[in-house]
Amino acid sequence: MKLRETKDGSYTLHNPELDVFYHSVHGAWAETQHVFGAMGLDEAFARRPDGSIHILEVGLGTGLNVLDAWVRAKAVNRQVIVHSLEPNPLSWADVEPLGHAALAQVPEEVVKNIVAGRHVDGHLDFTRIDAGVMAAALEEEWADVVYFDAFAPAAQPEMWSVPVMDRMRWALKPGGQLVTYCAKGDVRRTMEEAGFQVDRIPGPPGKREMLRATKVARPQGRFNVRAYMVVVQDGRVLVSYERLPMGGVMKFPGGGVEWGEGPVAAIRREALEELGQSVTVNALLHVSRKAHISSFDDNQQVLAIHHLTQLDGPVRFEDEGTLEDVFGKGVPMMDQKLGWREVDTLQPQDFHFASDREAWGAWLARRAAK
Ligand SMILES: C[S@@+](CC[C@H](N)C(=O)[O-])C[C@H]1O[C@@H](n2cnc3c(N)ncnc32)[C@H](O)[C@@H]1O
Repeated sequence: MKLRETKDGSYTLHNPELDVFYHSVHGAWAETQHVFGAMGLDEAFARRPDGSIHILEVGLGTGLNVLDAWVRAKAVNRQVIVHSLEPNPLSWADVEPLGHAALAQVPEEVVKNIVAGRHVDGHLDFTRIDAGVMAAALEEEWADVVYFDAFAPAAQPEMWSVPVMDRMRWALKPGGQLVTYCAKGDVRRTMEEAGFQVDRIPGPPGKREMLRATKVARPQGRFNVRAYMVVVQDGRVLVSYERLPMGGVMKFPGGGVEWGEGPVAAIRREALEELGQSVTVNALLHVSRKAHISSFDDNQQVLAIHHLTQLDGPVRFEDEGTLEDVFGKGVPMMDQKLGWREVDTLQPQDFHFASDREAWGAWLARRAAK
């Protein structure tokens, strides 16, 4: 395996099969210290001031991240328990020339033990697991932090997939975090699809950003179940313009499901309240896919249910409203106007709430599939 000096003077290895480096060529040691140490382990120490911290590493490689964890645990006189997955372990002959012991200022014996697969002292209880991320026996809610250090998506796309991220979230404790050097938009969306809250944070030298994904724990959190009507007739869809605390917004008519009624009855009741006439609720169009945190209260997660709905009889309400009607300081709070929008020109992003945007996207997709 070929050695290569990186920009901060530390060394990395080149993997000939995948034609990738084990670390950032902008600085291997700097990447390890920033991405996994400062943004991962230090945060975990702060979150959990006592007891040992469990690190699950995906890709032990040369073991540099584990050495950084040893240094950090020693500095604060704590212990980390590390399980590192590695289906293709490197040998001491591969790792020795990197000079990691001198670089990280760790006794050479510790480095050797890590490469051999097991090391225990007062700061580190390390075990290598010789299996890949999908095959390894992992424990539910074991890890405080996941060091996600797979080769880049271009080299190993299967590592950055939804099933892998599902498994990582399952392996994390509530409130735990996964850190990775990668900042790609589609990786971020994959993590969100798996239920992570993802933040783009400043990256190591040479890389503007990195990702940190949190398994959000909200013991006080509540679901807010809402039901909406999607009324389409004559090439137009019924929308509601409302004056809300954040300004004038466009949304679907409907609202919160009340105790004792189902979403279908809620839509019929909302129609009586908002439209002043009855409706027939038809097929289910869409149920929220994403976790939509309420714009009004971040302890509430909106689960929106949109049904195709039709008016019973002709329109019996004022239906000439526009967004202009609910804009401006003079409009009283909660004022509502109803209006129609042409389905051919209405875009998901025209809706204010992400849950409505999802539902209108679903309506458009359904129409396109016909
Ligand atoms: C970017 S390197 C890791 C660098 C390492 N953390 C270090 O400090 O040197 C990626 C590692 O992931 C390993 N890997 C490949 N497939 C894997 C899988 N399915 N599960 C876990 N690790 C895997 C590779 O063998 C490689 O050692």
